[in-house]
Amino acid sequence: MENERIIETVGLTKKYGQQTAVDQLTFRVEEGEIFGFLGPNGSGKSTTLLMLLGLSRPSKGSARVCGLDPVRKPIDVKRLVGYLPENVGVYRDLDAVESLTYIAELNGINGGTVSKKIEEVLDVVGLSKDAHKKVGTYSRGMRQRLGIAEVLIKDPKVLFLDEPTLGLDPDGAFRVIEIIQSLNRNRKITVLLSSHNLHHVQKISHRVGIMIKGKMVAMGSVASLGKEKFSLEEEEYTLEQIYMKYFEEG
Ligand SMILES: Nc1ncnc2c1ncn2[C@@H]1O[C@H](COP(=O)(O)OP(=O)(O)O)[C@@H](O)[C@H]1O
Ligand SMILES: [Mg+2]
Repeated sequence: MENERIIETVGLTKKYGQQTAVDQLTFRVEEGEIFGFLGPNGSGKSTTLLMLLGLSRPSKGSARVCGLDPVRKPIDVKRLVGYLPENVGVYRDLDAVESLTYIAELNGINGGTVSKKIEEVLDVVGLSKDAHKKVGTYSRGMRQRLGIAEVLIKDPKVLFLDEPTLGLDPDGAFRVIEIIQSLNRNRKITVLLSSHNLHHVQKISHRVGIMIKGKMVAMGSVASLGKEKFSLEEEEYTLEQIYMKYFEEG
């Protein structure tokens, strides 16, 4: 059976003036995958996510997210996609329950199911016992997990996570990565994960794509990229090695 394509782009391009931030990007992500979206700073990852969400208009090319065109159906796309941006804002004076109640309201979710839903998402991200502490007192890792809880409130089919472990200590990053993997395994959520943490990306991604200067220069499983392109031995398939080879070529 062929998997449903959750994300599909054809020749997707974004220009800012003379500069091409995303250059003829064609790729797809299948239902149920964790896709590691890699590349140095400035290579066009966040711009791609914004176009997929309908928050930035492509200069050329097209995209489909869950079968929808984000240019024409941005609201429908946002309903299905949970987006955790690079810099998550928090309401320092609210506690987690208050924050999530507010987010639920913004998403038009209310009534009797809200408090149950909030309990559930707090449990998923391991914040149940800190639910009534002010978010201003949270560690960076806890804030990031609250950010994930916020996007889970609307039961997304897909998650776009833009560098969710940036600036976290090893323990905080590990917890976030474990949550992402369990959401994928237990809830079949498809994940597009942008990250510089190659060790973690290798651990949980089914496939990866490497962007260099707006172009996707490589795409596939870590093993297939290591074997086909560089004839690496099995024990040498580290994503870091593969990434550095493309980076040096690029
Ligand atoms: N709003 C904008 N206006 C002008 N240039 C931008 C804008 N957003 C991003 N860029 C440029 O586009 C390129 C890609 O940026 P970005 O998508 O943020 O890369 P990444 O997320 O991979 O670090 C960079 O050169 C960046 O400076
Ligand atoms: Mg970025």
